[in-house]
Amino acid sequence: MHGPIHRMLSGDHARLDELLKRAAADPAHIASQPYREFRRGLLRHIAMEEKVLLPAAQRLNGEQPLEVAARLRLDHGAMAALLVPTPTPAVIAALRAILVIHNQLEEGAGGLYETCDLLAGAQAEQIVAQLRNAPDVPAAPFNDSPKVMPAARRALARAGYEHLLSEGE
Ligand SMILES: [Fe+2]
Ligand SMILES: [Fe+2]
Repeated sequence: MHGPIHRMLSGDHARLDELLKRAAADPAHIASQPYREFRRGLLRHIAMEEKVLLPAAQRLNGEQPLEVAARLRLDHGAMAALLVPTPTPAVIAALRAILVIHNQLEEGAGGLYETCDLLAGAQAEQIVAQLRNAPDVPAAPFNDSPKVMPAARRALARAGYEHLLSEGE
């Protein structure tokens, strides 16, 4: 039986997975409405984790950052960079590949969410309330300037995903 933090954030993962699946249902034509909803939702999800959950976990852990936090932040940086350009099938494939690994680090046994529920104990519901109250992240319009894909490739490389988006995609 999972705790409140796990239930809330893994529920959000499932919602975002579904939106991405709908966005990419027809590989020849990315569906813009579900993709926009996915993009806004993923940016907010990342903000909830970086601005609320990881700081709360650090506080509850005697001001020590969790060991997994740095790795998760690199993944978030890579995903956020992939959300900047107009999506292509290659961008969506890279997002999916990162999400499979990343969500497992958070939802899996001994992962971020379980650790946070354990650390929070009786305060877990209070943290969930703070997560729910996190503000929406205003999404900028897509940016397809020539700097965007190289920046995304660098963010992927920093997180160890240099194989995911090859030159020319
Ligand atoms: Fe995350
Ligand atoms: Fe997450």
